[in-house]
Amino acid sequence: MSTALSSTEAYSLLSLSLAAVGVLLNTFTGEGEPLIASIAFSCLAFSSCYALIRWLGNAFIRRGFKGKDLCKLKQTEIPETMGAVCAMVYLFTIITFIPWPFYKDIVVATSGGGNRDVIKELEEVETGRLLHRFPHNKLASYLSAILSLQTIVLLGIGDDLFDIRWRHKVFIPAVAAIPMLIVYFVDFGVTQMVVPIPLRPYLGELFDLGWLYYAYMALLSIFSSNSINILAGINGIEVAQSLVIAVLIVANDVLYLSPFTAYPHPATDSHLFSLYLLLPFIGVSLALLKHNWFPAKVFVGDTYCYFAGMVFAVDGILGHFSKTLILLLLPQGFNFIYSAPQLFHIVPCPRHRLPHFNARTGLLECSRVEFKKPLARPVAEGLKVLHRLRLLDVETDENGQVVSSSNFTLINLWLVWFGPMREDRLALGLLAFQTAVGVAGLLVRHRMALLVFTADNWY
Ligand code: UD1
Ligand code: MG
Repeated sequence: MSTALSSTEAYSLLSLSLAAVGVLLNTFTGEGEPLIASIAFSCLAFSSCYALIRWLGNAFIRRGFKGKDLCKLKQTEIPETMGAVCAMVYLFTIITFIPWPFYKDIVVATSGGGNRDVIKELEEVETGRLLHRFPHNKLASYLSAILSLQTIVLLGIGDDLFDIRWRHKVFIPAVAAIPMLIVYFVDFGVTQMVVPIPLRPYLGELFDLGWLYYAYMALLSIFSSNSINILAGINGIEVAQSLVIAVLIVANDVLYLSPFTAYPHPATDSHLFSLYLLLPFIGVSLALLKHNWFPAKVFVGDTYCYFAGMVFAVDGILGHFSKTLILLLLPQGFNFIYSAPQLFHIVPCPRHRLPHFNARTGLLECSRVEFKKPLARPVAEGLKVLHRLRLLDVETDENGQVVSSSNFTLINLWLVWFGPMREDRLALGLLAFQTAVGVAGLLVRHRMALLVFTADNWY
């Protein structure tokens, strides 16, 4: 891989970074302007990540972080685990950002310039409009988000180094989620769920899920980090699907922020919090996508997939919109359920399920799993039913025995439906699908919610 930045790239990244630094310095003259600062930080994160991916590529290869691109004629080795670079730049960014959202509170609480002469003011403050205590709970949320994300990055790098077994690594996101769940418990602690109208006669208006709510949130972190990792295998798909999800969450956040809605909305703060976590994520992901899109120059590694999933889980849980998040993860959910027969070894699961590259046509076809041993009768019948529903491509021999089928992933199913195609067209198709489902999900969330709930909290 050519590691040097071209002069156009170098100048563009440099000017972007300088502009971002200028904006950051400027925020100190006002009240800190955290949202503007966050955008500037995200631009800085983008340029640093872009340059570091280039500069570190060869070092990663030397350390053995490399992989063969299986869907190419010439299977050259390219750097893998570039998600680790993204994650590091991201963590550095959100850690450096910490003072900005609290700038106003710090300045007011210390009356500026670090003087702690607030005691006198407190009397007027107690009765007056300036009752201003430092929001320790918000800082705790933010710090717990960082802690959870750091833990998941450790898992990801461990997995890329040692290929941890599926049954072991599946629980690690739940451990990583503990810091944020504790903060949720102390700070918010709402474990009640608003019951949809049709169910109210049975359950009442609010239903308390109690500790099950925490189990649900832990499961959500397990699900979102693993589900991105298994909707993978073609150039660009891991990063691009994460970007689509991130951009849709940002769109949803913006709905809650002025000037689109009455300010201050009760949810304003949690949606701002969500933006602070997502904008830098979009920055580093764009830099990665540039290098991972077809034909890929680097692979993202499991680190990226876990990290991206955890960013969404942390964001959704601490931003209090976990149900909306599930709507945006529907394609991943489908892929997860559809994969279940292979994940739980009801049918054999090969090490790789990515599509098959046909060297003659240069197109991708669905990859297949051969059943060396005959399948149990009910399983075989089940596969035939799926075949008739066009949800699988099953091959039978003259005796009607099932001998092979397409692998159980959404990517292969797409190829079963639309026939062989080039790798980038396949990725674009899947991304269009992800976007369409996500937009529909948000529409349902905000328009149809009124049919099953009495109020949509946007208004
Ligand atoms: C998951 C999937 C596996 C899929 C793999 C591809 C499950 C249970 N596991 O495994 O079926 O094959 O992701 O990422 O669904 N690669 C490419 N082109 C790409 C991306 C990856 O050829 O665009 C290959 C490279 O050889 C790379 C390897 O996949 O080295 C990475 O696989 P890894 O992420 O370790 O696989 P898993 O996450 O364990
Ligand atoms: Mg992977």
